[in-house]
Amino acid sequence: MTTATQHAADTANPDQNGAAPLLEVRNLKVHFPVTKGLILQRRSGEIKAVDGVSLTVMPGETLGLVGESGSGKTTAGRAIVRLQEATAGQISLEGEDITNLSGARLRRARRKMGMVFQDPYGSLNPRMTAGSIVGEPLVIHKMHDNKRDYRQRIAELFSIVGLNPSMANRYPHEFSGGQRQRLGVARALAARPKLIVLDEPVSALDVSIQAQVINLLKELQQQFGLAYLFIAHDLSVVRHTSHRVAVMYLGKVVEIAPRDELYENPLHPYTQALLSAVPTPDPRLERERQRIVLQGDIPSPENPPTGCVFHTRCPVAAQDCSQYVPELREITPRHWVACIKTEGYGPYA
Ligand SMILES: Nc1ncnc2c1ncn2[C@@H]1O[C@H](COP(=O)(O)OP(=O)(O)O)[C@@H](O)[C@H]1O
Ligand SMILES: [Mg+2]
Repeated sequence: MTTATQHAADTANPDQNGAAPLLEVRNLKVHFPVTKGLILQRRSGEIKAVDGVSLTVMPGETLGLVGESGSGKTTAGRAIVRLQEATAGQISLEGEDITNLSGARLRRARRKMGMVFQDPYGSLNPRMTAGSIVGEPLVIHKMHDNKRDYRQRIAELFSIVGLNPSMANRYPHEFSGGQRQRLGVARALAARPKLIVLDEPVSALDVSIQAQVINLLKELQQQFGLAYLFIAHDLSVVRHTSHRVAVMYLGKVVEIAPRDELYENPLHPYTQALLSAVPTPDPRLERERQRIVLQGDIPSPENPPTGCVFHTRCPVAAQDCSQYVPELREITPRHWVACIKTEGYGPYA
């Protein structure tokens, strides 16, 4: 690790009033090998899906994680809950480094984390009953004394997420999209976690159902003091759900700030472009809203641009931007940005 990235990893963890974070991610990288040839499988490169992400989540907090499709959000979320091996970096939960745990210690750490997946149709095993899907973590973590205990806990979990416990014997295809996502939430809650990674939990649902699921998530957060990493592909959903928001582009976090600060004073040109695409309810502001349309598509993480990965699409890119990799810096308290064109970013050599 170079001194510059080490520095970024050490400092890009804005905490709140010195309290200890629940989750601390430092310089996380997840690279997937690309292989060529059917038989010899020669390694010909790598996809840098997550390439140096640092963030923290405080107990009871929701951190929104936003970025276009392909920016590495799902991979980062899966690595955090240890469903995906990290290539480099460190993941700490309640101060314990869980990056390389295995066996019983990994299971113990996993118990503190849940994940709700984007696709409520594909993520639930169609051959298992709803009850056994929700109860599986109880079995894995041996969290029940006997059959009766187990059934009771499942009934309780069904009620908590607003499903009738009598539906426990049904199969996933008998549930609507919204109900399936409630099942996913019940399953994520089963082991009484402290952190849940929500991977675009409402993207696949009808707009009319989205608010119900979001309200449920908010109630559960209050009730159980849960922390969320709330992944979304645009800034409209996380506005109503997050305390702070991190913006990701091509495997990197380019900006992190408290929610209102991010929406009122976005500093990174990418955040500004994303925000310009979000309609506002105020008709006057809506008329004045100027869309910043980014040129081209998000580049491939197999061959990311040099320097700042955003420079190829950035409306304000300067020559330096193709050479210098900008680290996240705290520009005003708790507002971090990785862009050398930001006022106050200071000398960057
Ligand atoms: N298992 C995998 N093997 C190879 N490439 C992957 C794998 N998972 C994801 N990727 C690639 O990593 C990049 C980030 O993907 P992903 O984390 O799903 O982004 P997002 O959730 O932001 O859409 C994409 O280019 C994707 O194709
Ligand atoms: Mg995704």
